[in-house]
Amino acid sequence: MLRAIVFLEWAAIAWAALNATEDSTRLTINNDRLFASVDKSIGAIDRLTLDGQDLLGARSGNTGIGPYLDCYCVPSGAYTPGRIDPVYTLLQGTDASKTAWAGVVMSETYPATGQVLEQYWFLRDGETGIHTFSRLAYHNSTTQFLRNLQEFRTLFRPNTKLWTNLSTNAIQYAPLPNPNPAAGGKGDFVTVQDATWYLPNRSDPYVIQESDYFTKYTFSDIWRDHRVHGLFADGSTSPDGSTYGAWVVMNTVDTYFGGPKNSDLVVDGILYNYIVSNHHGNGTPNITNGFDRTFGPAYHHFNKGPAGTTLEESREDALQYASPEWNAEFYDSIAVYVPNYVPTSGRGTWKGSIRLPRDAKKPIAILTQNKADFQDNVIDTKAYQYWADIDPSSGAVQIPRVKAGAYRLTVYAEDIFGHFTQDNIVVKAGKTASTKVQWKAESAGTELFRIGTPDRSSGEYRHGYERDPTHPLHPEEYRIYWAAYDYPTDFPNGVQFKVGESDVAKDLNYVHWSVFGGYANSVRPEPYYGNGDVNNWTIAFDTTKRDLQHKSKATFTIQLAGAKTAAGNTDNYNATEPYSNLPYTVVVNGHALEPWIILYYHSSSCAVRSSVSCYNIAHKFVFDTKLLKAGENSLVLSLPFNATNYESALLPRSVYVQYDALRLELS
Ligand SMILES: *[C@@H]1O[C@H](CO)[C@@H](O)[C@H](O)[C@H]1NC(C)=O
Ligand SMILES: *[C@@H]1O[C@H](CO)[C@@H](O)[C@H](O)[C@H]1NC(C)=O
Ligand SMILES: *[C@@H]1O[C@H](CO)[C@@H](O)[C@H](O)[C@H]1NC(C)=O
Ligand SMILES: *[C@@H]1O[C@H](CO)[C@@H](O)[C@H](O)[C@H]1NC(C)=O
Ligand SMILES: *[C@@H]1O[C@H](CO)[C@@H](O)[C@H](O)[C@H]1NC(C)=O
Ligand SMILES: *[C@@H]1O[C@H](CO)[C@@H](O)[C@H](O)[C@H]1NC(C)=O
Ligand SMILES: *[C@@H]1O[C@H](CO)[C@@H](O)[C@H](O)[C@H]1NC(C)=O
Ligand SMILES: *[C@@H]1O[C@H](CO)[C@@H](O)[C@H](O)[C@H]1NC(C)=O
Repeated sequence: MLRAIVFLEWAAIAWAALNATEDSTRLTINNDRLFASVDKSIGAIDRLTLDGQDLLGARSGNTGIGPYLDCYCVPSGAYTPGRIDPVYTLLQGTDASKTAWAGVVMSETYPATGQVLEQYWFLRDGETGIHTFSRLAYHNSTTQFLRNLQEFRTLFRPNTKLWTNLSTNAIQYAPLPNPNPAAGGKGDFVTVQDATWYLPNRSDPYVIQESDYFTKYTFSDIWRDHRVHGLFADGSTSPDGSTYGAWVVMNTVDTYFGGPKNSDLVVDGILYNYIVSNHHGNGTPNITNGFDRTFGPAYHHFNKGPAGTTLEESREDALQYASPEWNAEFYDSIAVYVPNYVPTSGRGTWKGSIRLPRDAKKPIAILTQNKADFQDNVIDTKAYQYWADIDPSSGAVQIPRVKAGAYRLTVYAEDIFGHFTQDNIVVKAGKTASTKVQWKAESAGTELFRIGTPDRSSGEYRHGYERDPTHPLHPEEYRIYWAAYDYPTDFPNGVQFKVGESDVAKDLNYVHWSVFGGYANSVRPEPYYGNGDVNNWTIAFDTTKRDLQHKSKATFTIQLAGAKTAAGNTDNYNATEPYSNLPYTVVVNGHALEPWIILYYHSSSCAVRSSVSCYNIAHKFVFDTKLLKAGENSLVLSLPFNATNYESALLPRSVYVQYDALRLELS
């Protein structure tokens, strides 16, 4: 039923309610409600209207445009394709349901390297949104290795007073600050850290409702439960009080990287589709000869509501499209124009039946690159990724539209240490693959105690998920600039935690620093080194003679939500930096165990970029129970004193770790 015409010449053809036109300067696609026009000289949409309302504002430099493609992927770094030698294609057709659609493709070969960068925009009749795909291809046999793909993203970057609010998800939203330094606004604000500002205007609704500080990271999110994010216009700025929404719907996630724990920026005044970045320690793929990946589809949904429509109502309208099954037939119809897109005929269903450990909460099943940690799902650039919640009572889980191939299955759950993996899960096109497995929780004997919740985050500790009591929107505290929480004030005697008596939400900080304050801390510009009360944390616990009887081996497990070594967000080893690899020590009743060396390529810039969950790592310290005694025992969790690294950007120099959960077992 596919009927499509590729216009190689400038042309204009009218369908019932959908037009696609091209002239010497622009390509335009519109239906009776949405109008989008690409300027050929910049490779970007620079005119976008919904029911006649301008959603972008006037173009000025890189504002007033989008969605457009942008990367950090050429040898010198940043590049915005479409400005050197773009080639355009106008597409039009009807899909299997006889619905008319139109599309624009921008393709550019970067002359110095031969990299191909492409952006696809599709509009369907009856919809008020744009389906986007973005592609990078590199075929160069003389230079096999180009660089890492450090950033790949699309931006919707308005230059209009229309937009009034930011929305990350159902609980994280706020008025846009005015001026907005993250979107290039000029005015009265103080830079306190890289891309982090203190806003002095006490009358700014953002300051009143959300925080004195604004950072693009405040509005980031983790992919697992993320569906849509956007900008909202609450009616106060539109001519007739109508509301508007600009939403990015992550209707498919299989072409992103890093699995469900990938986290990134979503909106800060600019509305992003962050396809790849190393933020929060996310892995980035290498661009090597043969790299060819098309990311998407993502759906940019624009909506209009009558005066009084709430942000949440506008968000929920976008949410209805957040499913990989939505519009699958349409995507099949256009697949012939989108290299690498895997149509339904190349996909199957995966069904799991997982016997879970008792008390497993919020269990998840993940399919990623075979034989690799799901967080490293960037090594094989052909690998796709999927995840779904497992029904905790039955253990059933199902994932539709899985690209045919072999996967690693990973299962984890809240309250359970460790995780389950099984390789060689094969999904065949047009078939349902079933997997029946049992996950037996790891155990190293009798559990003497545990601290925190194994949930891959440090959110349960002080200043993590706790809601800020001082602002009406009560943001989760970790989302705010870290220096707002002064460690030496909160912990005047350092961390002294007594198992069974202390409270994790009060008596353990969400970050274990080596040194606090100094560079990039505007509240405490002089470093506080302390005398071991910063870098050394003490955990005290009681045991009895009976606990220790017939036990010879003690296993102390540390799961980290994130760790920052001198490598920061990069995977680069710097030989001149003493803490590229970070030694972490546990001292049992005065006896230091062999240090755990946290490797540079497991480093994340996490808490300082407003996160409690980055690249997860874990270690088991195994020691002789002879080091323990009946009565009170102590464990000192020790980072090197005053351990810092050189930072090229305005970021704190201290290394640090963020705990997920700890436990001591005896056998
Ligand atoms: C498409 O173009 C035709 C001819 O210019 C015009 O009559 C029609 O209104 C247009 N339709 C839309 C949806 O813009
Ligand atoms: C391959 O890469 C090298 C180095 O970047 C460049 O000089 C050469 O022109 C590229 N080859 C092609 C075919 O683009
Ligand atoms: C949206 O922003 C406006 C203008 O700053 C503010 O009055 C309103 O409270 C915000 N709404 C939400 C839901 O944050
Ligand atoms: C402070 O914010 C209010 C409310 O947005 C605004 O009217 C006022 O102009 C701002 N003041 C300055 C100095 O920017
Ligand atoms: C990228 O290439 C570098 C250098 O060969 C290698 O060390 C690194 O592991 C590669 N990373 C990935 C994700 O493939
Ligand atoms: C911290 O703990 C380690 C290990 O017990 C110890 O060597 C060090 O002296 C302590 N104090 C400081 C300031 O690092
Ligand atoms: C390595 O660290 C030193 C400072 O210790 C810094 O001057 C240098 O730029 C770093 N090298 C790289 C490649 O980042
Ligand atoms: C901490 O380290 C910095 C340099 O890394 C040094 O200048 C400072 O004197 C050190 N402070 C203490 C108390 O050791």
